[in-house]
Amino acid sequence: MKEVSGDLISFEGIEGCGKSTQAKLAAAFLDEQDLKVLLSREPGATAMGRELRRLLLSPDFAPETMTELLLYLADRREHVRKIIQPHLEQGFLVLVDRYIDSTWVYQGYARDGDLDLIDRMNELVTGGLCPRRTFLLDCPPEIGLQRARKRNLTDGSRGCEDRFEQLDMAFHQQIREGFLLLARQHPERIVVLDATRDVENIHRQIREVLEALYVVR
Ligand code: TYD
Repeated sequence: MKEVSGDLISFEGIEGCGKSTQAKLAAAFLDEQDLKVLLSREPGATAMGRELRRLLLSPDFAPETMTELLLYLADRREHVRKIIQPHLEQGFLVLVDRYIDSTWVYQGYARDGDLDLIDRMNELVTGGLCPRRTFLLDCPPEIGLQRARKRNLTDGSRGCEDRFEQLDMAFHQQIREGFLLLARQHPERIVVLDATRDVENIHRQIREVLEALYVVR
């Protein structure tokens, strides 16, 4: 097993953009390079997080905006302290499917929320732990939602759309815009990928970035 110092990488994007598929492929690639890799996600990576995820994605509740923000942040705190940090300390590359940017965009930008407050809250719950790179899979919401619907029908995990996927197209368009705005604000961290391309093509681009960072030749 090669020794590298631990690092955090996140994958972000709208529903159905393909980030979970890409995160899995990236984890498999790093694993093949004999690096220590952990693939995780938000919300729901810890035992408590799984309960929070159930509440957050259930169509039975419509939490008030601040309540929802606090639940995502609670999930993140548990995740950082109990899973991410201990793995980073052991030299793992931790890949997360959604992280701080999702909160900034979903609870902040798309809801006219207080973005400075969200920045400060993210900072507080993560102890300032920011990803080294963030892969933003960008595609029009029509394409993402089509894929998300297909997935929901075929994966058997939930036959109906969850609360987020029921929100209207204008909201998803806002989400996309929010991510792109963040990418312009953090060009050194966020890599924007055209997610309308095929899976292998996108993976190749991600692999090149990861190779440059972690693969010693
Ligand atoms: P999930 O089923 O994991 O969606 P996806 O496959 O698109 O990642 O559900 C996660 C949902 O939670 C997604 O709609 C985005 C939302 N979310 C927030 O609103 N704020 C956050 O901070 C995070 C981490 C997720």
